[in-house]
Amino acid sequence: MGCSLIFSTARVVRASATELVAEVPGWPGHRPGQFAMLTLDPGAPRHDPLLPRPMAVYRSEGERLEFRFKVVGRGTKLLAGLAQGAPLGVLGPLGNGFPEPQGRPVLVGGGTGIASLYELAAGCGSDVRVLLGGRTRDEILGLKDFQLLPVELSVTTEDGSLGERGRVTDLLQPSSGDEVFACGPTGMMKRAHELARAGSARCWVSLETHMACGFGVCLGCAVKTKSGFRYACSHGPVFAAEALEWDALP
Ligand SMILES: Cc1cc2nc3c(=O)[nH]c(=O)nc-3n(C[C@H](O)[C@H](O)[C@H](O)COP(=O)(O)OP(=O)(O)OC[C@H]3O[C@@H](n4cnc5c(N)ncnc54)[C@H](O)[C@@H]3O)c2cc1C
Ligand code: FES
Repeated sequence: MGCSLIFSTARVVRASATELVAEVPGWPGHRPGQFAMLTLDPGAPRHDPLLPRPMAVYRSEGERLEFRFKVVGRGTKLLAGLAQGAPLGVLGPLGNGFPEPQGRPVLVGGGTGIASLYELAAGCGSDVRVLLGGRTRDEILGLKDFQLLPVELSVTTEDGSLGERGRVTDLLQPSSGDEVFACGPTGMMKRAHELARAGSARCWVSLETHMACGFGVCLGCAVKTKSGFRYACSHGPVFAAEALEWDALP
């Protein structure tokens, strides 16, 4: 699978409040956990919003890419309202993606971070635990797709509307697995890191840092690590959890 970077004018196949599907001519393939920068209205002289928005590739089939998201502001609101056939600028694949799981993996997804984990889960076969959490059942992106995978799936919601009431890390014990892969709010990933460390498990986290360019030139996504600043877009978004200065993360 090639992973060279492209900028493509894609066409929207369908869009809704949680999902965007687009045909992306020339998409070279990607690894689980890589992302794209999405530019709305790429042909317009002045983009609205001005900056592209980073979005994990949720799932793909050839040049057809799927994204799952939560509407939080103008960019995601406009994405949700795109008409069939609308143009969309897609720059990618970006970032490093997840490393190949080495042991028995446990995937921990919270909120929008769930979208980064689907392809990793789908590639893991059956010897994998997938723990997904959100405030409400509507926040569990792609739930039906995860339910169709042969994985051991558990869900939590803070309001108890689906699965166990509580936080997703309540389901994680220090002995939960050989390797933890997490994406979600910083507090959730920090807790996953602490529990993994207590069980001597490796832990990888994918950061959803604010980004402007997506490929290492604007310096807007710097994160503090134990060996200095690194860029979430080009050195990450996936980092070894023990490498990060957790108290300096937003
Ligand atoms: C590598 C990567 C992958 C991502 N994948 C997904 C995904 O698959 N699905 C998804 O729903 N979201 C994902 N995100 C987050 C997504 O990029 C933001 O939610 C989006 O850019 C918000 O744009 P907006 O214009 O709608 O909101 P804005 O108007 O830009 O912001 C609205 C509010 O959301 C907050 N916000 C914006 N971006 C972020 C962020 N990155 N982290 C925390 N708070 C933020 C702002 O501070 C503000 O309060 C990803 C982010 C990164 C870096
Ligand atoms: S987003 Fe520009 S350097 Fe990372």
